Amino acid sequence: MCGIVGVIGRDDTTEVLLNGLEKLEYRGYDSAGIYVDSKSGDGHLVKEKGKIAELRAAVGPDVKGTVGIGHTRWATHGIPSNNNAHPQVSANGRFYLVHNGVLENYEELNSKYLSDVTFKSETDTEVAVQLIEYFVNSGKSVLDAFRQMVDLVVGSFAFLMVDRNDPERLYVAKNKSPLLIGLGQGFNVVCSDSLAMLSLTHEFDELHDGETAIVTKDQVEIFNREYQAVERNPYHVELDENETGKGTYPFFMLKEIDEQPAVLRRLVDQYMGERDQFKFDPRLIEQMAQADQIYIVAAGTSYHAGLAAKTIVEKIAKVPVAVELASEFGYHLPILTKHPFFVFLSQSGETADSRQVLVKMKKMGYPILTITNVDRSTLSREADFTVLLHAGPEIAVASTKAYTAQVTVMSILAKALGQKLKTDDSKIDLRHQLGIIANAIQTIVDNKEEIEKYASDFLEKTTNAFYIGRGQDYNASLEAALKLKEISYIQAEGFAAGELKHGTISLIIEGTPVIAIITDEVTAGLTRGNIKEVEARGANTLRIVSEDLAESKDQIIMPKIDQVLAPILTVVPAQLLAYYATIQRGYNVDQPRNLAKSVTVE
Ligand code: AGP
Repeated sequence: MCGIVGVIGRDDTTEVLLNGLEKLEYRGYDSAGIYVDSKSGDGHLVKEKGKIAELRAAVGPDVKGTVGIGHTRWATHGIPSNNNAHPQVSANGRFYLVHNGVLENYEELNSKYLSDVTFKSETDTEVAVQLIEYFVNSGKSVLDAFRQMVDLVVGSFAFLMVDRNDPERLYVAKNKSPLLIGLGQGFNVVCSDSLAMLSLTHEFDELHDGETAIVTKDQVEIFNREYQAVERNPYHVELDENETGKGTYPFFMLKEIDEQPAVLRRLVDQYMGERDQFKFDPRLIEQMAQADQIYIVAAGTSYHAGLAAKTIVEKIAKVPVAVELASEFGYHLPILTKHPFFVFLSQSGETADSRQVLVKMKKMGYPILTITNVDRSTLSREADFTVLLHAGPEIAVASTKAYTAQVTVMSILAKALGQKLKTDDSKIDLRHQLGIIANAIQTIVDNKEEIEKYASDFLEKTTNAFYIGRGQDYNASLEAALKLKEISYIQAEGFAAGELKHGTISLIIEGTPVIAIITDEVTAGLTRGNIKEVEARGANTLRIVSEDLAESKDQIIMPKIDQVLAPILTVVPAQLLAYYATIQRGYNVDQPRNLAKSVTVE
């Protein structure tokens, strides 16, 4: 959940570390730190509570060197503070370590080996660096001490360590948490995500679980669990660093909302061929066609995309779909069908909750597809098949374009599967429908000021709000509520419209904002009845309605599209309502409190 960077062999090490941490800030932003050193110079440790901007302000002109490590934190153990920020330092000030992950047995190791050590922090991580000093003091070489520590700790970790007495190598270890080594001429770098170092290199070595590495300015040595040297072929990252900036946009979230029409059109080009041909790996469609049930496993917004995709796949391909919360599914396995096919939806491809399920389903020998926005991410590397979202980097913590891209990709897959199974009698002209949706999203975005006004009228003063809908509108309401609460901190719930009167309607008082989504002609009347029920109790109602069902007092009117695809469109005004409600409260849209973009701990 944290972001870590390392550099060796560059005179501008401090600047490279700070730039890299800024690119990784989406992974955690409650405190940060760097340690910079060189053979000839002094070591410099700088740590600050808060964002990288605060750290950068604290880094003096004298903080120079040719090797360094850095960290931006999402607190798991101990409050955000200078002491708990990384790098953590061993008692004698010799070893400096940054860590991304959670050490499950740190208390046990502490009481077994470190009872007479005075700790400076509340972190699990400090146990790791104190253990290295402990083993060196017991006569081991630094390399053996580092390896013994790695062998003892249990949990998820990406470690980077520097020895002040020998600042000419970086000690690296990885288990579960993502970690890459970037290759340069006369220098090398290490990072949680290639985004951090694209300005320096596009060539990266992946580290796999249980591997360690020694990185110097001229060499990268990778070792397996048994510490035997392994060869690794670097891979090239296509991504252009310029794509990772927010350009003229005030926030990444607005840029990413704006990019959705282009993303949809790109996906049609990428996966839909001429005359109802599809451009997926035929073996993938073959395997999906043999399934007696598709299991979609995901978390957060991706889980909501899975809910919308279930209705689409069942309508078009007539294959039963179960949608499972990753954090629950892995530890409370339901009775599975005989021939399950697993689809993991994950923007980052690194979500630990989803990965623990993937590892278990893989062990059980089930076929696995990962649909992700990050090529060569862990969930992609470990799956049998990968389908990329081609949405471009999504930096804002609140996921937007990944949601519409996930539902769109699942729609195209459903068409391909329905064609394969000869079960598709939906008559949905998907290319045409996605074209209408892309244009409609463009229109909403071009007139976003209208949504800004509704945000001010309906949400400026409230502490809670409800989204209601039925069927796909209920599925869109769940995502709409998540967007609103995760960045504006308004307590919001997405609710099945018909369910309100069974309890939750007691929360409706004078002025409570209720936002209804109505795109289904079959249940539109019923939802309007529910709107009347909440209005009768003082609710302030805002309606997002399909033009064919619109009435004079409805505010946000959407073009008519095939109802089963409606969430791809109706979620966009909800994304903008959340965006403006957050702006109006003066909060940071891209980096909401307590959150991080890629959740790499369970
Ligand atoms: C969504 O806005 C959140 N950032 C979060 O719920 C996210 O969707 C969830 O953590 C899953 O992430 P993933 O798609 O990268 O697996």
